[in-house]
Amino acid sequence: MSAAALGASVSRSAGGFLDVFLEARPEPGGSAGSARQMLTYNGLMPGPTLETRAGDTLRLRLKNSLSEATNLHFHGLHVSPIGNADNPFLSAPPGEILEYEVKIPDNHPGGTFWYHPHLHGTTARQVFGGLSGLIIVRGELDSLPEIASSDEQLLILKDFSFDRTGRIHDANPMERIQGREGNVITVNGKTMPFFAIQRNGLTRFRALNASASRYYRLRVEEHPMAIIATDGGALPRVDWVEDLLVVPGQRAEFLIQGIRSPGVYRILSLPYDRGSMGMGGGSAAASTVLAQLAYLGSSDTNFPVPDQLPDVAPLPMPTEPARTFYLEERMMGFKINGRAFDANRIDTVVRLETLEDWELINLSGMDHPFHVHTNAFQLVDSGGLAERAWRDVVNVPRGTRRRIRLRFSDYTGRTVYHCHILDHEDLGMMGTLRIGN
Ligand code: C2O
Ligand code: CU
Ligand code: CU
Repeated sequence: MSAAALGASVSRSAGGFLDVFLEARPEPGGSAGSARQMLTYNGLMPGPTLETRAGDTLRLRLKNSLSEATNLHFHGLHVSPIGNADNPFLSAPPGEILEYEVKIPDNHPGGTFWYHPHLHGTTARQVFGGLSGLIIVRGELDSLPEIASSDEQLLILKDFSFDRTGRIHDANPMERIQGREGNVITVNGKTMPFFAIQRNGLTRFRALNASASRYYRLRVEEHPMAIIATDGGALPRVDWVEDLLVVPGQRAEFLIQGIRSPGVYRILSLPYDRGSMGMGGGSAAASTVLAQLAYLGSSDTNFPVPDQLPDVAPLPMPTEPARTFYLEERMMGFKINGRAFDANRIDTVVRLETLEDWELINLSGMDHPFHVHTNAFQLVDSGGLAERAWRDVVNVPRGTRRRIRLRFSDYTGRTVYHCHILDHEDLGMMGTLRIGN
């Protein structure tokens, strides 16, 4: 076996198709001579970045060379949840091949999405082991001149921990309850990489939290972040922030302007306490350095940060009363509305082309990042107004509630919603959703 290649490799669609072969397999990786083993796609961690456009068809062959069953989920894509598309109920036993065909609709928004295994009971272990990759859908945002000329970088955040033999540490029961976190943090597969930025230049980061459980509160030293996109694509206006919480599964795109004196600046993750069941959470403790920005040369174009971005219309108020989802952990079990996941039960039935508000109520002592497949949603404020931003993961801090608004468009079939602390999902904090006519 060759060593795992760390860092990004890109497969681009051509003529409306992207044909990809992904082999899920363990591979030694890390620094030269390291005996550490990761789970990879084609020997890569992260897996190849799939670059597409609206209207493309993704034809993907997944070969399972792991010692247990696996499958794929296309996180955040608004595509069919059934058949051999974004169907989390498919399974490839070891040695088998699953063939996916995922049609990305013509009106799909541009944005940053990702793929990862989604087999109930093994998702946390497989994602924590290294299995995930980015999906880029190019769109309107990419053609704005300031954005098109910016330097594009990925910021794929993933933590690991290894046992003495260099294998991925398997979580014990307490770590599962807490949500496993690793002590080695990687960015695009590397520990503490450097990003070169230009003085007066614009750099666009596509950030993804691909960790099983770890939260990141990002800050770039002395550089405010200009947020241009959330999970589901562009914001209507740039949102300037000093720091940004990115919970498991979430994506964010932001611009950094080379406005400081040349030097090296750190990209940090600030402490964030996501609550715990009597254990210290890893991300709660201290600031961590994730990566560094190093000024290298200067830009002569000097593009400003764009003010106006592609518009996002807020969803109108639904006429039906809101549906409630109680998130709780009880007697070592993680539940939604009092029930642990059962693939053979339908928990929630909705109708195609209707709008609903979902009230997410966290009764537990830990935060839970709530995620819905197939359709993105908008957050609703206390006055009932929807945020002009598309998301598919929202953090519901412990003891609080959040309201989201969804429209079930285009696709019928059965899919899921769950906590994106993947150990919680594996322990039962997931429900099934049937979208019917
Ligand atoms: Cu990224 Cu069902 O999840
Ligand atoms: Cu998903
Ligand atoms: Cu959770």
